[in-house]
Amino acid sequence: MEKNDNSQHSIKHVGIIMDGNGRWAESRGLDRSEGHRAGARTVINIMHAAIDAEIGALSLYAFSSENWRRPQDEVQHIMTTFDEYLEHEISAFLKRGVRFRVIGDRSKLSLKTRFLISQAERLSSSNQGMLLQMAISYGGMDELVRAVRKFGQSGGRAESIEAADIEQHLDSVGSSALDLVIRTSGEQRLSNFMIWQAAYAELYFTDTLWPDFSTEHFQQALDEYKRRQRRFGGVSA
Ligand code: FPP
Repeated sequence: MEKNDNSQHSIKHVGIIMDGNGRWAESRGLDRSEGHRAGARTVINIMHAAIDAEIGALSLYAFSSENWRRPQDEVQHIMTTFDEYLEHEISAFLKRGVRFRVIGDRSKLSLKTRFLISQAERLSSSNQGMLLQMAISYGGMDELVRAVRKFGQSGGRAESIEAADIEQHLDSVGSSALDLVIRTSGEQRLSNFMIWQAAYAELYFTDTLWPDFSTEHFQQALDEYKRRQRRFGGVSA
């Protein structure tokens, strides 16, 4: 995977761990489902802000492999919110030239969700604008395990495996390394989000809860990134 050029502080790929929907709702005396609904509105706003900022790819952590352990009605609500999002937002993808893709283990998703994902991916596949990569039923370790399995199934041999072989079998194949990972709501960890792709990413943590994360907050994160010095394990770029 290409390590992105830092000379112009270009931001090719931003990842966001969207956290805090539940706390946002609970602090208002609302059901957690209202937090996820508000979170979906933030997804829409930040997608437009990322396009306006000329970012090449935006990866959003929407539902982790571990999130399946949440109460069934909450899981159902997140999935319904996601279905509605896909139904409504496909027109915005087409209007703004967004190429949409899901990363994660789709086998656990409902038939309806899988159909809506395939439809959005197919209809937006020739778009030339920003890649919007949604991590659903996703875990970074699981993605790596599946990549190595796919490599083996395609005739690859363990003795000669290279980093490029793994990358070619990741769900995120073709997208560049993450430059910046943002996490909302005060937690300071990666929680299994794109661990391979985030190897050299700058990390940005904010206390703001995801439903409150505005385009101004997003711009603040991009501005902070531009002040960072990236080294990629060597001398400063
Ligand atoms: C984290 O907040 C958020 C999630 C687990 C779900 C994310 C879902 C959305 C942003 C909305 C639906 C998705 C899309 C793509 C439209 P949390 O519930 O863990 O919050 P908490 O830590 O405060 O409990």
